[in-house]
Amino acid sequence: MQPLRVFVTRIIPEEGLSLIREACRGEIWTPTGVVPLDTAPSELAAVDREAQGRTPGSVPREVLLEKARGVDGLLSLLTDPVDAEVIAAAGPQLKVISNCAVGYDNIDVACATARRIPVGNTPGILTETTADFAFALLLAAARRVAEGDRTVRTGQWITWGPTTLLGFDVHHATLGIIGFGRIGRAVARRARGFDMTVLFHDPAAAHLPESEREGARPVDLETLLRESDFISLHTPLNEATRRLIRRETLALMKPTAVLVNTARGGVVDTDDLYEALRTGRIAYAALDVTDPEPIPADHPLVSLYNVLIAPHIASASRSTRGRMALFAAQNLLAGLRGERLPYCVNPQVYER
Ligand code: GLV
Repeated sequence: MQPLRVFVTRIIPEEGLSLIREACRGEIWTPTGVVPLDTAPSELAAVDREAQGRTPGSVPREVLLEKARGVDGLLSLLTDPVDAEVIAAAGPQLKVISNCAVGYDNIDVACATARRIPVGNTPGILTETTADFAFALLLAAARRVAEGDRTVRTGQWITWGPTTLLGFDVHHATLGIIGFGRIGRAVARRARGFDMTVLFHDPAAAHLPESEREGARPVDLETLLRESDFISLHTPLNEATRRLIRRETLALMKPTAVLVNTARGGVVDTDDLYEALRTGRIAYAALDVTDPEPIPADHPLVSLYNVLIAPHIASASRSTRGRMALFAAQNLLAGLRGERLPYCVNPQVYER
C-alpha cells in the first residue's frame, strides 16, 4: 500500500515526528521553507536552532491552503486556523486533523464533524506542566520578579531598599480559579501548599464531588471576582468565555488583584485590561497568552510596568512537548489507518 500523505505545519519534537516519518510521506513547514518529511532530524534540528530566540512564525495561510491540498492527514498547531476553507482545500480524502495542543479553538470542529473527519488533541499530559507555569506567573507577578531582573540589568540597583519593589504575599491569600477542569484543579493543588484559600467558578464543574475539589470552594463569578487576590484563568476559548474578562468584570476585582492568564488570549479584552492596569483598577497581570498573539513589542500593553508577558510557553517543558508530539502523532496515524483516535474532540464522527 502507498504510504499516506500528510502535511505537518511545524517542526515538532522527534518523539512524534519520527513515528510520522516511518509511516507516511509528505512535507513539513519550517521557518526557512517547506521541506520533505524525510529530511534528516539533524537538518531539522539545525533549522530549529537557527530560529531559536526569534519567533519562528507559523505557516502562512496561502502555504497551508496549498500544502493541505490532497493530503490524507493534517498535523496542525494552535497557531494555524484550520477553518472550512482549509478543510475544503484539503479535499474529500482528508481523514484526520491532529492538533498538537490541548486547545482546539483554531479548528472549525463543526465543519470537520459535518465531513466526518475526526479531530485529535493532546489532553492530560500538559496539565501539571501548565499548572506549574501558571503558578510561576502568579509568584513572579506577586513578587515582581521580572521588574527586579530589569532593575538589575539596567543598572538601577543602587542599594537595598526598604520600599523597593514591594509586592503581595501569596501565602494565605485568596486565589480564584475560573475554569475548574484538569489544569484549574492542578493549580488549586499547588495553592494548598501556600496555605491559600481557593475559590473556583465553573458551571461545568458545579456538581464536582467534594473529594475532587482539591479543597476549593465553588462560588458564583461575581463572588470570585470580588473576593480573590489572585485570579487565574483556565477555561477553553468559546462563545461563553470570549471576553469574559472585560471592563465590567475587571470593575468587580480588588484594586490589588493580580490576573493570571494561561488559557487563551481571547478570554480577556486586551483594551479593557490595558485600561484597568494603566489606571490602577487592578494591580498586575501575568499573561502567557494574549490577543492578538503574538502581541507586538510596541503594543501599549507591553509598555506598562505592571504586566508580565510570556510567549505562550506554559506547556513548554522538554518532556511535555515531547509527549504532546507523540500523542499528536498517534492521533494522526490512528486517523490515517481508519482507527478511532486515542484523543478525539468530536467522537460524534464515530456514531452511525
Ligand atoms: C496550549 O495552549 C495548548 O492548548 O496546548
